[in-house]
Amino acid sequence: MPSIIGVIGGSGFYSLGNESDSVAIQVLTPFSDEAVVLDKESIAGRDIVFLTRHGKSHGIPPHKVNYRANLKALQESGVEGIIAINVVGGITKAMAPGCIVIPDQIIDYTWGRQHTYFDELDAPENHIDFSWPYDLALRTILAESAVSLAFTVEQGGVYGCTQGPRLESAAEILRLKNDGCDIVGMTAMPEAALARELKIPYASIALVVNWAAGLTDEEISFADISSTLDEGIGKIRQIILSAITALP
Ligand code: HPA
Repeated sequence: MPSIIGVIGGSGFYSLGNESDSVAIQVLTPFSDEAVVLDKESIAGRDIVFLTRHGKSHGIPPHKVNYRANLKALQESGVEGIIAINVVGGITKAMAPGCIVIPDQIIDYTWGRQHTYFDELDAPENHIDFSWPYDLALRTILAESAVSLAFTVEQGGVYGCTQGPRLESAAEILRLKNDGCDIVGMTAMPEAALARELKIPYASIALVVNWAAGLTDEEISFADISSTLDEGIGKIRQIILSAITALP
């Protein structure tokens, strides 16, 4: 089991434990002129490295996130397992707003993102196995932690990753549903694949904050999303802290 855990926070999730106990470090990578800022702290005797995916003030939209720099910086800081937090829309019946999901599959609908470390021709290891994008051991610990806290959690589900930043059309959501997607978000890819290229076990805990486009008569409202997010984020934090404590 990993000794240092990386946690990637999504929308609304800008710190993990107590910010005053964390130390900010800056890691330069070959993928950006700017350093990636990470917060290091110790939780239950384990070193944790926290990264906020969209930047501290949510300035970076999903298609502009420098996923390669982020994942490389986590690797450089010694991270051996990653828990990613994703905020998503619900597509299938069980995935109602407020629901917590530990996805087990991904369909990638993004385009034009810097999505691999193997850009050179004839790179030796460029065809990674991605049959199961999410690490089973980390998924199990996250699911067990959620259950032990008596939170309702969907174990398994297909995450359809769209390009954003706009939300989808109703027809696009119907297509995703026909493809087998349970939830839709904008940030699982290329993050999960880059973690696999770096051989870092990776799992996600996703919070459903709205019904996806066209599934209700109402427009998707940011007021509704924010209130669901505010309620869910505390639960996600508890699950992650409990999972960190439970790691062998
Ligand atoms: N679609 C894509 N990404 C999202 C959604 C959605 O409905 N809700 C939160 N992130």
